[in-house]
Amino acid sequence: MKILVVGGTGTLGKVVVEALRKKHEVITAGSKSGDVQVDITDLASIQQVFEQVGTLDALVVTAGGAAMAPVQQLTEAHFYKGIRSKMMGQINLALVGQTYLNPGGSITLTSGILAEDPIANGAVLTTINSAVNGFVLGAAGELVKSQLRINVVSPGLVEASAEALGEYFPGHVPVPMAQVASAYVKSVEGILTGQIIRVV
Ligand SMILES: NC(=O)c1ccc[n+]([C@@H]2O[C@H](COP(=O)([O-])OP(=O)(O)OC[C@H]3O[C@@H](n4cnc5c(N)ncnc54)[C@H](OP(=O)(O)O)[C@@H]3O)[C@@H](O)[C@H]2O)c1
Repeated sequence: MKILVVGGTGTLGKVVVEALRKKHEVITAGSKSGDVQVDITDLASIQQVFEQVGTLDALVVTAGGAAMAPVQQLTEAHFYKGIRSKMMGQINLALVGQTYLNPGGSITLTSGILAEDPIANGAVLTTINSAVNGFVLGAAGELVKSQLRINVVSPGLVEASAEALGEYFPGHVPVPMAQVASAYVKSVEGILTGQIIRVV
């Protein structure tokens, strides 16, 4: 399969790419790094990257950020940052990407466990992750008509981020990187659609 991994140079993306490269042709994308560049907050940039890479068998997204702050300090601006990046960045990749995917192809997005297991300062991420999960649930049934599958991987704090982020996730047990990679392989190579693939 020919697979585009947006965010393929990041902490999660690197292990996902390593696992997919065993069997597939993988193109990585980042805003500054990767085989090709795209800014997921910019729709024109998304359209341009698909024109550049052409027809695909799978799209995987492991990119998209959101602000963290105490709820007492949150403003609309904090939310819009996450909406433009992790939410609409991924949704726009899926919306534009569907026309570049071959029949039988798949889309795999990334949310995160904060959708249902919140932490302090994480209200924006809880909101955005839930929205990404919601898009996948809402879109999957109709994408059947296009012979496309769509899933979202929802990882817990991953082992490679535990040193940097562990203090913000009290009591969370970091998830092994191999387990994270396997969830994306399952989504790309398996038969699931409309699923939130939780890795905890
Ligand atoms: N780390 C965790 O424990 C964890 C757990 C659950 C969920 N997640 C979610 O998984 C996703 C990836 O997390 P991560 O820890 O792997 O992040 P990361 O290490 O910061 O990697 C982010 C990746 O996205 C790319 N990127 C950043 N901004 C971009 C933009 N505007 N347009 C296109 N590409 C962009 C980066 O490449 P460039 O630098 O070249 O832009 C990089 O490849 C995030 O949505 C995060 O919320 C992470």
